[in-house]
Amino acid sequence: KSPSLAAAEAKSEAAKRVKIGIYFATWWALNVVFNIYNKKVLNAYPYPWLTSTLSLACGSLMMLVSWATKIAEPPKINLEFWKALFPVAVAHTIGHVAATVSMSKVAVSFTHIIKSGEPAFSVIVSRFLLGERFPPAVYLSLVPIIGGCGLAALTELNFNMTGFMGAMISNLAFVFRNIFSKKGMKGKSVSGMNYYACLSMLSLLILTPFAIAVEGPHMWAAGWKEAVSEIGPQFIWWVAAQSIFYHLYNQVSYMSLDEISPLTFSVGNTMKRISVIVSSIIIFRTPVQPINALGAAIAILGTFLYSQVSDQVNYKRGCILVL
Ligand code: 3PG
Repeated sequence: KSPSLAAAEAKSEAAKRVKIGIYFATWWALNVVFNIYNKKVLNAYPYPWLTSTLSLACGSLMMLVSWATKIAEPPKINLEFWKALFPVAVAHTIGHVAATVSMSKVAVSFTHIIKSGEPAFSVIVSRFLLGERFPPAVYLSLVPIIGGCGLAALTELNFNMTGFMGAMISNLAFVFRNIFSKKGMKGKSVSGMNYYACLSMLSLLILTPFAIAVEGPHMWAAGWKEAVSEIGPQFIWWVAAQSIFYHLYNQVSYMSLDEISPLTFSVGNTMKRISVIVSSIIIFRTPVQPINALGAAIAILGTFLYSQVSDQVNYKRGCILVL
């Protein structure tokens, strides 16, 4: 290799690292802002089915406007694409609404500690439903994940069963989302940004009738009046912020998937949860006991070990959101 070629390669490698660093920093920052505003809204206005629907509606609208104004190139997709996307959207909808219901009942940090256990769900589903086999190191890495999440749940001061189950259902749904999207994206050339835009639109169609059935306009209107009288007119900006930031963080995470491996993505997602857990504990002054924090730390360490061992065995889990 000539010295100039080696220098050019090193330069492009460095540029790639900078680009990925920017993606990650943006993704985590957007996610922290989403989580803060989402919880502020839910504290004043406990209608998670509506707020989940608004997040998807806002993202869908933003993307339709971007396509219409050519800010973003509209994707070339057909009926087959939508058919393949349908199971992904069902799983995305369930995972999204379940996480939001969870956060309406418990501290944001608790939801994310339980959500850091997603790799355990992934391995269990792949093993028992898909019949995949893993080396012992992968199963061993689940011990700290399950043990740490269990310890954190048992010592959580404001434990609530709906909050706990919401996070668990979200984990399970997102594992299925990953599996379905792995199949659905095979051979398709839609960018991460447009893939997520279509996913939002289909999820919005799926979620809207359920949100109306579970909560409905009467409850929403009465609650809205109360929230505005309690918080003031800025309440609407909180709702707008949680909706816009929900779309943006997901869009950036799907865009970063175009650039990085699923493994790098999963490490990034774990680090994202650490930033959300720490910042939400500080902002909402969540009471944490040392043993509770220890449980969270063990679970997160477990997800790192899991990513390391699953990398070593070259276990690739497709193109979309891992963890
Ligand atoms: C949601 O509302 O969909 C959840 O907050 C998603 O959480 P995650 O993207 O951090 O898995």
